[in-house]
Amino acid sequence: MKHYLQFNDFSADEYAYLLERAAFIKKKFKAYEKYQPLADRTLAMIFEKASTRTRVSFEAGMYQMGGSVVHLTTGDSQLGRAEPIEDSARVISRMTDLVMIRTFEQAKLERFAQYSRVPVINGLTNEFHPCQILADIFTYIEHRGSIAGKTVAWVGDGNNMANTWLQAAQLLGFKVHVSTPRGYEVDEKLAVGAGGISANSYQFYSDPLEACQGADLVTTDVWTSMGYEAENEARKKAFADWCVDAEMMAAAKEGALFMHCLPAHRGEEVEADVIDGPQSVVWDEAENRMHVQKALMEYLLLGRVA
Ligand code: CP
Ligand code: NVA
Repeated sequence: MKHYLQFNDFSADEYAYLLERAAFIKKKFKAYEKYQPLADRTLAMIFEKASTRTRVSFEAGMYQMGGSVVHLTTGDSQLGRAEPIEDSARVISRMTDLVMIRTFEQAKLERFAQYSRVPVINGLTNEFHPCQILADIFTYIEHRGSIAGKTVAWVGDGNNMANTWLQAAQLLGFKVHVSTPRGYEVDEKLAVGAGGISANSYQFYSDPLEACQGADLVTTDVWTSMGYEAENEARKKAFADWCVDAEMMAAAKEGALFMHCLPAHRGEEVEADVIDGPQSVVWDEAENRMHVQKALMEYLLLGRVA
């Protein structure tokens, strides 16, 4: 049994399979072809934070594959009344086949997985958001081909998305230019472990414009992630220069793409003319969450089928 708790949980070879499989599953969806390999399987989704894309993509994806879904939140389950996570894991995993969790600390997700009888998927933690990066890479490949050897510019917070980009870069052989304000840097050790990240995969820039130079993809995220709302005012001041604008896009390679995991705040981390402009692929990126997660669920439940 495999879990998907962080991007590093799969090998480059498994990603090659998953990305191909996602393309195959997407093609069937676009052709209105029924594909229901997960008939009679149940996915439990546990949300301790808000969501639009993650909920809709997992829920719609599971129904399309013939399965069903149970949706739980902190407020409407015993999770919000301090039932131990270990007990919740034991019980939920006796009644369902697969569990997706969106929560705060990665350690909580790991504890759940330790006591689960079924595969567990990270639907976002404070530290990582692997399903999103899987969708982002799939989207890049759809538009531009292989991401190996390419450069991704990350402009903004050294958050769960940035950490996951670092893992992906090291594993799949591309480079991430990261620019964050001082005090909001990526924690490299947390992101990739004690061994650290190679200089071929990561470079830090204090100037966001410089980070965008020569990039094949420019990407950003909210200044204040879920769980950090108390820091909102301080962050608005600190991040004022980390807004992806036309000048940054012009510094990137010609034909560079723009991505944002969404939800976006136009006029904060990105200007409207960028996110709504011709280089932006954010709507494909959002839709692709569903296609890659269908491939992921199939893989975790059935293994390689092709
Ligand atoms: N990108 C993403 O995970 O969106 P939601 O918070 O809406 O699920
Ligand atoms: N970094 C953001 C991503 C939202 C999908 C957050 O954690 O809130």
